[in-house]
Amino acid sequence: MKNDFRQKLHLEPQKGWLNDPNGLCFFKGEYHVYFQYAPDRPDGGGRKCWGHFKSKDMLNWQFTGIVLFPDTPDDKDGVYSGCGLVKGDKLYLFYTGNVKQDGDHDYTTSGRGANVILVTTDDGQNMSEKKVLLRNSDYPDYCSCHVRDPKVWEEDGRYRMVLGARTLDDKGCVLFYTSDDLEHWEFEEELRTADLGYMWECPDFFRFGENEYLSISPQGIPNEKYRFQNVYSSGYLAMQKGTYTEWDIGFDFYAPQSFEAPDGRRLFYGWMGIGDIPYFNLTTGQGWQHCLTLPCELFAREDGVLLRQPARELEQLRRDSFDITDGRFCDTELPFELVGAADKAFSVVLAGVFSLVYYNGEAMLRFMGSAGCGRTARFAKLASCRDIRLIADKSSCEVFLNGGEIVFSTRMYPADTNVKLITEGITGRLYKLEGIEVKTDG
Ligand code: FRU
Repeated sequence: MKNDFRQKLHLEPQKGWLNDPNGLCFFKGEYHVYFQYAPDRPDGGGRKCWGHFKSKDMLNWQFTGIVLFPDTPDDKDGVYSGCGLVKGDKLYLFYTGNVKQDGDHDYTTSGRGANVILVTTDDGQNMSEKKVLLRNSDYPDYCSCHVRDPKVWEEDGRYRMVLGARTLDDKGCVLFYTSDDLEHWEFEEELRTADLGYMWECPDFFRFGENEYLSISPQGIPNEKYRFQNVYSSGYLAMQKGTYTEWDIGFDFYAPQSFEAPDGRRLFYGWMGIGDIPYFNLTTGQGWQHCLTLPCELFAREDGVLLRQPARELEQLRRDSFDITDGRFCDTELPFELVGAADKAFSVVLAGVFSLVYYNGEAMLRFMGSAGCGRTARFAKLASCRDIRLIADKSSCEVFLNGGEIVFSTRMYPADTNVKLITEGITGRLYKLEGIEVKTDG
């Protein structure tokens, strides 16, 4: 069937542009996924709002529309990214109100207001009045006007907030604030590391046991062969070890956010896209662009490395399946999932679209033909590879190696939903997948 590129497994807008996941939480029996939404234009221009999806099971979703508009002087140029914190029977949403002042400004050292704004809601959709909690004058003097994307959590009976920032001398950093009541915030400390770019966006902070993790999306790190292959990076600092590890080696991943599910799992969504990419997405001409990643679960390995796997709920979407044995050629249909054990060397080829090859300590994803829309090749170093899980939707592919130690998230645009798959060195199963349900209000 001709591919219309409409995703079956991923949250995406019907029209306009989506970027970062925002306000992720489980509140009053439902998962809430807010996102950066520019409803007017598929290139991200026009009003920047928060759109809202909700679901009881992460399989049946409802799109309830736009819940936050840039409609006050404190957020007139964008309801930018932020987070959610559930407290009693209220959901607190914190975001950045972006304000561009008139005049001759570069909007980095002058001319931009970056306000931390709070709204509360009883139902996830109807919002209270907006209240400004922090303004540029509340940030350290060495910061430029790029300070944004609050993430708030509770710790030892107090609250903490982390904000991403760019200093006046072009260093990426985060600012930590603390509060007793979620409204009055005091500056606590700043954190930066050498050589991680000029701006850190969308920070997130969480723990596994004693280990603390700070997720950041840094801009301005020079490209290397195995790291920092995209225009902007996204990864986590393991605070005790002091290491930075990228979340994803694919072409399309940025600005993830995590939250805790009621059963204690740390769930995680990213934006399956990046700003300022040198490649493109074929849906733009049809009026929409971008989607979120699959919901994932994070795990900490004994050595502190984080593993990422698709949320277990997604296994309920599995339908007809058949065995894959070494050296197999098969016809299948998007969306599908491949789960297998891997030999010392292996390959998966989606005919005419891409090849994924593991050989001699290197995994490589390479596009062929035009289905990559300018995407070329991405490389990961991996001493050995034991298993693979690949989930292909109608216009994306997410590949998880070694239980999620390495992940490639990538958009792709095969002309047809009937595809040919050629595998070598893999023994496992291929499942057809049912789509998720996304109803739209109104
Ligand atoms: C990251 C980002 C955030 C900002 C938002 C605006 O993609 O640039 O820093 O809040 O997008 O849409």
